[in-house]
Amino acid sequence: MQRNSTVQTPVSADALHHLSVIGMLPPIELTVVIPTFNERQNVPILIEKLEHALAGIEWEAIYVDDHSPDGTSDVVREIARTNRRVRSIERIGRRGLASACIEGMMASPAPYIAVMDADLQHDETVLPDMLRKIEAEKLDVVIASRRVAGGSMGEFAKERVKLSDMGTKMSRIVCRCDVSDAMSGFFIVEANFFRALVPHLTASGFKILVDLLASSPTIPRAGEVPYRFRNRELGESKLDVNVQLEYLFLIVDKLIGKWVPTRFVLFTLVGALGFLVHLAVLAPLYLNHRRHFPQAQAIATFVAMTFNFMLNNVVTFRDRKLRGKRLVTGLLKFYAACSLGAVVNVTFADMLIHQNLPWYLAGAAGTGISSVWNYGVNTVLTWRRSRK
Ligand code: GDD
Ligand code: MN
Repeated sequence: MQRNSTVQTPVSADALHHLSVIGMLPPIELTVVIPTFNERQNVPILIEKLEHALAGIEWEAIYVDDHSPDGTSDVVREIARTNRRVRSIERIGRRGLASACIEGMMASPAPYIAVMDADLQHDETVLPDMLRKIEAEKLDVVIASRRVAGGSMGEFAKERVKLSDMGTKMSRIVCRCDVSDAMSGFFIVEANFFRALVPHLTASGFKILVDLLASSPTIPRAGEVPYRFRNRELGESKLDVNVQLEYLFLIVDKLIGKWVPTRFVLFTLVGALGFLVHLAVLAPLYLNHRRHFPQAQAIATFVAMTFNFMLNNVVTFRDRKLRGKRLVTGLLKFYAACSLGAVVNVTFADMLIHQNLPWYLAGAAGTGISSVWNYGVNTVLTWRRSRK
């Protein structure tokens, strides 16, 4: 994602000035990026609230909607026809809170960019305080926090608070500075700080703030402002098991993604679990039911491969999940690819044994090379990136 380094013709200051005179609008101070999925009813209410809260500030709102079935984008565009403060970005064939926020932020011309939820759970009246703080203290980011004095989780469900506690602890492993509420989806960043770190972002899942704080090449200068998290009145939360998996993915990616692709690590972990499944099936068949070893081994291999395929489908390749008929053809491709992988494994290990390598090194090298093979072939053939 490096910028093109060819020589660029400079845009003259005069030309820019001339255009801004024609445009005749005072310079913008703040963009509020609002990600949406099925938030149709909340759109007009939030804009009204922002009009009040941000009186006296030159602001705009950029809604980033993932083609919501309830037509959220239609409502935003309808408002944007007559309200120049409101803009709409609609994405097709994409889902994801973090990536939506990033796209909205990239479209902002303002020196400061806020991110907030569309569902009225974030208290818009603290935005001016946040803006004042980031400007006055020359910070990179100001977080609206539920975890500093004066802030509160409100009536957030107990399980959600627990989940948030756990997430906060995990965030400390990867974030480059200490903040109380890295789980917050409500914050302001300084635009240049943001643009410098964009190429380093993982951009998966919900936790855009953790991603920012963990991906910054410099140590972020962060401040916090307290607020009380509100209840959701209209629509429903999109946080599900998948979103939690995405968070794990983000943490692993920030820890080791520089060296090994995170997807490969997940694939290997699933493979290791499959090995345990293999042993758990083999042992009773061979020891208790007295099957012939090759037969027991064949059944165990089959079960383990099927287990691996299913788990890879929901974890490793969750963004390319196969369903229905494609699940069946995918499974057949997986069997074929892994069987060839086993041949590669044995052939390579055998070759090493003949080079007088100790058996454990030959065995490990064979397994290593077949993991890479299985991963590569299945990425290309079984869980091919769809063009839809
Ligand atoms: N574009 C887009 N794409 N927007 C999405 C998507 C998506 O796939 N999923 C959710 N959103 C939007 C929602 O419409 C909402 O405006 C906002 O992102 C937050 O989603 P919720 O589903 O309401 O999440 P939550 O309330 O459970 O959790 C939120 O608030 C917490 C506290 O700040 C998230 O922002 C959490 O990350 C945060 O910890
Ligand atoms: Mn919400």
